Amino acid sequence: MNKKPIYITTPIFYPNAELHMGHAFTVTLCDILVRYYRLRGHEVHFLSGSDEHASKIVRIAEKEGKKPAEFIDGIVEAFKKLYSDLDISYDQFIRTSDKETHWPGAQKLWNELVARGDIYKKSYRGMYCVGHEAFITEKELVDGKCPDHGTAPEMLEEENYFFALSKYTSILRDRIKNGTLTIEPASRRGEILSVLESAEGLQDVSFSRPAQKNSWAIPVPNDSSQTMYVWCDALASYITAIGYGRDEASFKKWWPASYHVIGKDILRFHAAFWPAMLISAGIGDALPRILVHGMITSGGRKMSKTLGNVVRPMDLIQEYGKDALRYFIAREIPTYEDGDMTPELFKAAYNASLANGLGNLANRIIVMALNYSVDLAKAPAMDEILADDAFAWYTSAFERETGPDINGAAQGVWSRIAAADLKIQQTEPFKLFKTDPEAARSIVSELLVELWTIAQLLTPFMPTTAAEIQSAIKEKRKPTLFPRK
Ligand code: MSP
Repeated sequence: MNKKPIYITTPIFYPNAELHMGHAFTVTLCDILVRYYRLRGHEVHFLSGSDEHASKIVRIAEKEGKKPAEFIDGIVEAFKKLYSDLDISYDQFIRTSDKETHWPGAQKLWNELVARGDIYKKSYRGMYCVGHEAFITEKELVDGKCPDHGTAPEMLEEENYFFALSKYTSILRDRIKNGTLTIEPASRRGEILSVLESAEGLQDVSFSRPAQKNSWAIPVPNDSSQTMYVWCDALASYITAIGYGRDEASFKKWWPASYHVIGKDILRFHAAFWPAMLISAGIGDALPRILVHGMITSGGRKMSKTLGNVVRPMDLIQEYGKDALRYFIAREIPTYEDGDMTPELFKAAYNASLANGLGNLANRIIVMALNYSVDLAKAPAMDEILADDAFAWYTSAFERETGPDINGAAQGVWSRIAAADLKIQQTEPFKLFKTDPEAARSIVSELLVELWTIAQLLTPFMPTTAAEIQSAIKEKRKPTLFPRK
């Protein structure tokens, strides 16, 4: 049977600074899902990218005395370096500055919105939060400042094209209610529904900026005095990347996205702007599923470049290894709620679950197998394992209707690790070997197959560790895993 192609996206990140722990969190969640679906035999397309036309990027480049393109190239290289250091198996990295891949589709999308009568020009005066790259209302401010960025908005007055988002209030509400616009978890869906059901509903949104203020952005078709506003440009990347306006066959194959994975900070753009744009452009019959994770806080506050409280993923990778960071993201941080991250929590989890838990178990089993000359009796492949009802918990966690339960799937693997530890404690093969070597060998043989199986199940979460355990078993040597810290 042909399995359906899976298309998973990360947000495209602003290349105004290196990626922090929060970004690494999103990207790693995506990578875990992607690797799971590849193991299940699906064809997968995994997209990430950079959102390069935001005004804050140009300001920062200028501050550093660099040309925007030169500055951005350097940051994009650093993004890709982190992806490689974290084993992020992306298939494509889209840059919104890419005039061949991205611009034609973004302009086609614009033209479709125009054709539907959903774009109009008007003069606008409002408060603009540069951190959000969006207009912000008086109501959203706390003490005159954006609560997320802690900065005061700027007053802007200009002539812009607007997108008639308000027209879509009831359409989106109906699509959420009839289940054809999926936003998970339910709490985030509720948040959007309450906007859609409020008296005001959705407001029309500014979709362009004057070209002289935003000269680097994508020109609005047929009006050289305006360039596209960053969100209209950025959201379009999800379809231009896979061929919209360029390669219809490829676009048809992958669209709609199986998951747009995002943080709650950009919920409204993805759960209101984007589906409305898709419906307006006539490509919204089947809509992408929106998966909204929580935010990692640092000392109880949102991690942000602006606040300066970022945790650098590179530091953790250097100290503990990439799979330790992947482990922490998968199991220790609640996927759909906010979670605080501190160096102390990280170290404690590392020692308990990796050095003592997984690492110790793998070492003990492999050393016993070497000492008692026990070979791997069978090496179950992933599809064999997953065809077994005993592993239904794993597939049902990953394929849960209400959004993948990454914590649950990881927790399930650690339950098996604990069960294998218990089996060693209870059967004491190292003692038994002295009196009944055959019985001891048979227990170690079972443990070795279990360790192999645990490694298979770990593959989406910790690909390097899984491979190291399996190679050590095959090559009959001790594995190199997680020294105590
Ligand atoms: N460029 C826009 C997105 C356009 S998508 C069409 C943008 N970029 S961003 O660089 O600010 O990245 C925002 C995303 O990074 C969040 O939605 C989330 O996925 C991730 N995170 C940023 N900070 C985070 C945390 N503190 N915790 C978890 N995820 C975080 O917005």
